[in-house]
Amino acid sequence: MTTYTLRKGSPAKTRTDLVVIGVARTSKGELEVCPGAEDVAAAYGRRFRPLLASMGFDGNVGEVLRVPTAGNLKAVQLLVVGLGKRDSLTLEGVRRAAGVAARNTGNAASVALALPAHDADHVRAVVEGFISGGYTFTGYKSGSDDSGVAEVSILSDVARRQDATAALEAGHTVGDLVNRARDWVNTPPNDLTPELFADAVVKLGKDLTGRARRPKVDVEVLEPGDLEKLGCGGILGVGGGSANSPRLVKLTWAPEDARASVAFVGKGVTYDSGGLTIKPGSSMATMKYDMGGAAAVLAATFAIAELGLPVGVTTYAPMAENMVSGDAMRPGDVLTMYGGQTVEVTNTDAEGRLILADALAMAAEGDHDAILDVATLTGPCIIALGDKVAGVFGDDDTTAAVKAAAEVSGEMLWRLPIPAETHEAVRTESKIADLLQHNWVRWGSALFAAAFLSAFVGDKPWAHLDIAGPAYNGGGPWGHVPSGATGYAIPTLVAYAANLAESGAEAAADQKEA
Ligand code: BES
Ligand code: MN
Ligand code: ZN
Repeated sequence: MTTYTLRKGSPAKTRTDLVVIGVARTSKGELEVCPGAEDVAAAYGRRFRPLLASMGFDGNVGEVLRVPTAGNLKAVQLLVVGLGKRDSLTLEGVRRAAGVAARNTGNAASVALALPAHDADHVRAVVEGFISGGYTFTGYKSGSDDSGVAEVSILSDVARRQDATAALEAGHTVGDLVNRARDWVNTPPNDLTPELFADAVVKLGKDLTGRARRPKVDVEVLEPGDLEKLGCGGILGVGGGSANSPRLVKLTWAPEDARASVAFVGKGVTYDSGGLTIKPGSSMATMKYDMGGAAAVLAATFAIAELGLPVGVTTYAPMAENMVSGDAMRPGDVLTMYGGQTVEVTNTDAEGRLILADALAMAAEGDHDAILDVATLTGPCIIALGDKVAGVFGDDDTTAAVKAAAEVSGEMLWRLPIPAETHEAVRTESKIADLLQHNWVRWGSALFAAAFLSAFVGDKPWAHLDIAGPAYNGGGPWGHVPSGATGYAIPTLVAYAANLAESGAEAAADQKEA
């Protein structure tokens, strides 16, 4: 357990194991200590910046330098982290620098952060970045111990302001839930079957209710019998080949002061072998992360509730394991989805859209201002945008609102189109069913998948995030993003809800005036 406190104070005079300061680069290429950390530079005298430069430090984001304290500071150690260009420093830059700091605390038990934290938003960015960047997944390594940083102080001039204290708490909440989602995604698939995933969500719901002063998030788990009664042919079809039966987890956050309402849907394929359309071995090895969309929408819902945002959220997380057996769905099968549309299956490895279809159709029955789905849906989306940028599809207004939220959260996403011909192809190319699942055309197959999903939301405001790339970091850690599961989309969903609360409040005020 780490405690986080916000306080006013001089980093040079703070007694702690490690003091961290941010150093940026001016347009002239000179190093500049961030506001709030100047007294550390002053304690070393005029030679501080030349000292950093002489050690090859340029102030880039990702750079760190351990500097001997030589009796200049009350702290035992000094860590300098790069902030990048001073004039283009963003909240995301602060989050990344804080994340880098968290990964370089060495053996320190107490840490004081003198990073740009001059207002509430920056305080939140420092906390979120530090918690998120310090994440590791070590439960399966023998002999790993959890001894880490016990106390973190965020040094800030606005420490006594109420909005700053609230920002500290908000950053803590979101950071913790991002890490919780990463734990789910990193957990090997033999320990995270649909049943065990649903159990973990129920448990988290209970734990959070324990400390919240607010109305709780309602957690409902639908089992195969329930899914049968409801006619969820997609979830049952995909889950049919596995000894571990499928589930549908539904969360409801219905605050009394709700100003708007949104439905989230997330792909929860706990393991994707491809089914009978089996994947090559090398593509299968990381397919435990095919439930990253479900983990993201579930964690985001809990975060929104913990923050007490006045937005109703209904979340659907269909969970299934896509396996091979005598009971497995075949290419050629026709499934009847929730709501009655029939689908001709041609590729059992395009399973995500099948489980999402049931859940989207359910979400579309509700009275929501928008439906957002999040899914590790297609490899082709990674080919289009790389592994750090998500694809976003949908109508103009909803995709614009998602983009605006991503500006706040710092997550990278890019809109992709769904051409009218593609909608047409989904609806006309099956000779025997209402819809064709997959047309075996390689080009633009992320677009075909999105068009298929849209057939289940009707004309409801909707956006679909294909996070196949950014949900998982196959390389080394960078910024606040660890290796492995990233928790991608949670910060954007939370920002989306916060924006919706704001615009809902404005609309309500307008109505009052009129
Ligand atoms: N879970 C995969 C998508 C995926 C691929 C996620 C790589 C992360 C990394 C999905 O179910 C799938 O298998 N998609 C197919 C595409 C589809 C058009 C058949 C794929 O990626 O080949
Ligand atoms: Mn697949
Ligand atoms: Zn999949």
